[in-house]
Amino acid sequence: MMYYPLGTTNVLAALLGVASASPHLRQQRDTTHYGPPPPRYVANATRANAVKQTFQISWDGYYKYAFPHDSLLPVTNGWSDDRNGWGASAVDAFSTALVMQNWPVVNEILKFVPTINFDNTTTDISLFETTIRYLGGLLSAYDLMTGPLLGTLNDTADDIPSVLAQAKRLADNLKVAFDTPTGIPDNGVRFGPPRRDGSTTNGLATIGTLVLEWTRLSDLTGDPTYGLLAQKGESYLLRPEPQPLAEPFPGLLGTNVNISNGMFLDGSGGWGGGDDSFYEYLIKMFLYDPVRFAGYKDRWVEAADSSIEFLASHPTTRPDLTFLAMWDNTTLQFVSEHLACFNGGNFILGGLTLNEPKYTQFGLDLVDACHETYVQTATGIGPEVFQWQDDKEPATNSSNNPPPPAGADATFYERAGFWITNGNYVLRPEVLESIYYAYRATGDTKYQDWAWDAYLAINTTTAVGSGYSSINDVNQPGGGGFANFQESFWFAEVLKYSYLIQSEDAAWQVKADHTNQFVFNTECHPIRLASGFERPGYE
Ligand SMILES: *[C@@H]1O[C@H](CO)[C@@H](O)[C@H](O)[C@H]1NC(C)=O
Ligand SMILES: *[C@@H]1O[C@H](CO)[C@@H](O)[C@H](O)[C@H]1NC(C)=O
Ligand SMILES: *[C@@H]1O[C@H](CO)[C@@H](O)[C@H](O)[C@H]1NC(C)=O
Ligand SMILES: *[C@@H]1O[C@H](CO)[C@@H](O)[C@H](O)[C@H]1NC(C)=O
Ligand SMILES: *[C@@H]1O[C@H](CO)[C@@H](O)[C@H](O)[C@H]1NC(C)=O
Ligand SMILES: *[C@@H]1O[C@H](CO)[C@@H](O)[C@H](O)[C@H]1NC(C)=O
Ligand SMILES: *[C@@H]1O[C@H](CO)[C@@H](O)[C@H](O)[C@H]1NC(C)=O
Repeated sequence: MMYYPLGTTNVLAALLGVASASPHLRQQRDTTHYGPPPPRYVANATRANAVKQTFQISWDGYYKYAFPHDSLLPVTNGWSDDRNGWGASAVDAFSTALVMQNWPVVNEILKFVPTINFDNTTTDISLFETTIRYLGGLLSAYDLMTGPLLGTLNDTADDIPSVLAQAKRLADNLKVAFDTPTGIPDNGVRFGPPRRDGSTTNGLATIGTLVLEWTRLSDLTGDPTYGLLAQKGESYLLRPEPQPLAEPFPGLLGTNVNISNGMFLDGSGGWGGGDDSFYEYLIKMFLYDPVRFAGYKDRWVEAADSSIEFLASHPTTRPDLTFLAMWDNTTLQFVSEHLACFNGGNFILGGLTLNEPKYTQFGLDLVDACHETYVQTATGIGPEVFQWQDDKEPATNSSNNPPPPAGADATFYERAGFWITNGNYVLRPEVLESIYYAYRATGDTKYQDWAWDAYLAINTTTAVGSGYSSINDVNQPGGGGFANFQESFWFAEVLKYSYLIQSEDAAWQVKADHTNQFVFNTECHPIRLASGFERPGYE
């Protein structure tokens, strides 16, 4: 049992450190080390450079065949404007090019950003996707260029203020989404002129994954409007009604919310798509600013404790693995997905932030299980959706999955502890993301090896034409065919996590010793903390 390489005595020291923390230090930078001494990180330049090369190949293909459109269709050398035609891949690649210090690409994107027409688009806008990819990408680039990378840009430095100006222009156009009876945003927006779709409901993740970006925009511009809008919408998620429907387990909620009255419409949820980053941002907001967002932390703690108590589930064939079940009211469903595999990293971040080794240890257990979804398949890449049979619920309980009938799936389940119900891989980052947090928390180089193996599998299997593509079946050698799509989050997330885990320590890296200066948004765009540094031990 090892969450920290230097042993349990340091955990005890950490707890004592918290106990003796003096509240009046809160407003100043507190240089006391809470928690054990930081792990030693070992960079591997060979691996980091290989990931940089993959980034360059992807960028070159995108730039040649798709820029300034949103996404590359790598098989046919075509393009798609699936994100409103504002150059999603360029904006999503921005912070990755910056942390890789790939100056030619940084300069291309920096020249491009002021030219984006954020006043118009012909297609429906997702407030959520636009916030995490575009707003997050611009704010992160601005934070990096005005923070740790200040002074590294030469002739293009004059363009830096326009990055923030473009973020503000975009948000000014999107603001209309919050113009509802409750202030809960409509996720659908149209421009020319800006107006909302008129949806009657919105979801947990799409309401609850705006607050970091919109608050950051307020903090950078000095205009509180943006943050207040997102926080108002979020307030209905922090005090969910009606009870008990909205909150089947303490801190764990339903999914769909009525925009007109703020009431939850169901009690079904999980840590996967549609819900995921609501939970993720509760602890990230506390890291961002523990003074303003202490209440968010309390809700994260409730969700984390309930997950450990009620959702942790072990497959009958692999009781050593820990997955989180989903819920339908209080009935559990033993199904999970690639998207949910960010959960290990989020528990680890919570453990580090709150000095609670129990969350870090539980997060490392979740990382182990999601890693297993990679190593057990024919390609070494994990599937989109998978199931298992729970080892505590009676097999006769209709809410428990019967194991697959004798055959290939049964053999696979016997060995792997899960079976695949959707074998796509669409260049998602979550398993690499959680492995990254595991490494940054422990310094254990085994996690670098895991990330390298995953990167190699992805780099080999998804490479096609002018870039890298979604594949159809992770459990067929070669990936079972290409879907001809390179998501913009390939640039923002997969390549950034793959790179950061092998590269030198830096201001933007996640820290284990309360010296964080950045928090990653859900698209892996590093956002600078409100006060520029972590304020440890704040209760
Ligand atoms: C760096 O990674 C390469 C590729 O996996 C490996 O061969 C090499 O031994 C690693 N170097 C160090 C110092 O660990
Ligand atoms: C700035 O100029 C130096 C010296 O010419 C060069 O090495 C560096 O790559 C330049 N940086 C950028 C971001 O263009
Ligand atoms: C937005 O673009 C559409 C299609 O190009 C055009 O018809 C419309 O006039 C534009 N609206 C604004 C406000 O620029
Ligand atoms: C949403 O709330 C409004 C206003 O209270 C109500 O009229 C409507 O029926 C609700 N919708 C649903 C699906 O419950
Ligand atoms: C969840 O509980 C609500 C309220 O009791 C009920 O109306 C609904 O049918 C339940 N949902 C499921 C899927 O059981
Ligand atoms: C079946 O599982 C659900 C929870 O997932 C539980 O509420 C119920 O009591 C179980 N039924 C039996 C017969 O064990
Ligand atoms: C990654 O894939 C590219 C081809 O797409 C290849 O040129 C490169 O050698 C691969 N990198 C590694 C480390 O295998």
